[in-house]
Amino acid sequence: MSKTADDPSGAAPGRSHVTLVQITDCHLCRDPSGTLLGVPTLETLLRVLQEVGDCHPEADVLVASGDIADDGDTASYGHFLDLVEELSIPTLVMPGNHDDRDAMRRRLASTPLSINGCTTVGGWLITALDTLVPGVHHGQLGESELRRLRDTLDAHSDQPTLIFLHHPPMPIGCPWLDRMGLRQSERLFEIIDGRKQVRGLVTGHVHQEFDAYRGHVRLLSTPATCVQYKHGTPQPVLDPVAPGYRVFTLRPNGEFATRVRRVARAWFPATSDIAGSNPNVAPRIPDDGEGIGW
Ligand SMILES: [Fe+2]
Repeated sequence: MSKTADDPSGAAPGRSHVTLVQITDCHLCRDPSGTLLGVPTLETLLRVLQEVGDCHPEADVLVASGDIADDGDTASYGHFLDLVEELSIPTLVMPGNHDDRDAMRRRLASTPLSINGCTTVGGWLITALDTLVPGVHHGQLGESELRRLRDTLDAHSDQPTLIFLHHPPMPIGCPWLDRMGLRQSERLFEIIDGRKQVRGLVTGHVHQEFDAYRGHVRLLSTPATCVQYKHGTPQPVLDPVAPGYRVFTLRPNGEFATRVRRVARAWFPATSDIAGSNPNVAPRIPDDGEGIGW
């Protein structure tokens, strides 16, 4: 899935960098008018992708980091495919806890999409990891995924690398979400700690922005294309900010810049329309963090 066969840099002629756009947690439903806590998820994804197309026509790669569907239904992935195909950008997709791995493969395993794959573009390695554990909301990397990551990094050891996965391997300071992050994250860190090539670990799942460092590795999470959650709360609290996405500028020297962009707020449902009669607080979750999940 290299960007072009005849341009080893992968960047468009005349440009010295590569643009990567990440979207995450679309939570699409079989019913195109389906909602999550009052937010029409197909419409919000459409708005996000329209802005991506308008503001980043030069984008080289699109990454969708899980929870593409809210219901794991094949039809939900069809809605996603219909919108993403319009952009005609090579796209890496990986599952989240709400996804169905088999349904994703059935509906999305076609150009320009690649599931759990990797790509090289502009001298960078971009790779996606599958953290889905069916039936639960936390994530874990199986032996085969850990081996695949190790082998991929070894095969591209001279290339700066971004790793995308749905579940954060680090606590983000939201106790209810931190209980359903990546389990056994030390096994992931064992692989990347000694590899200076890894520049960033980038996730979804938490429906909010996060930005920190662990040694040389930047740890990032990205707002959902639908419902947003407030940071630092012990229980789920809706944040009425608009949906968003993340843009990366990847430079040939291995440095990168990134920022979150949010779509225009005007059309987004008013807070009072989200989540019914108690607009700011979503249902309580049980202490094990497995009752509901994002
Ligand atoms: Fe999730």
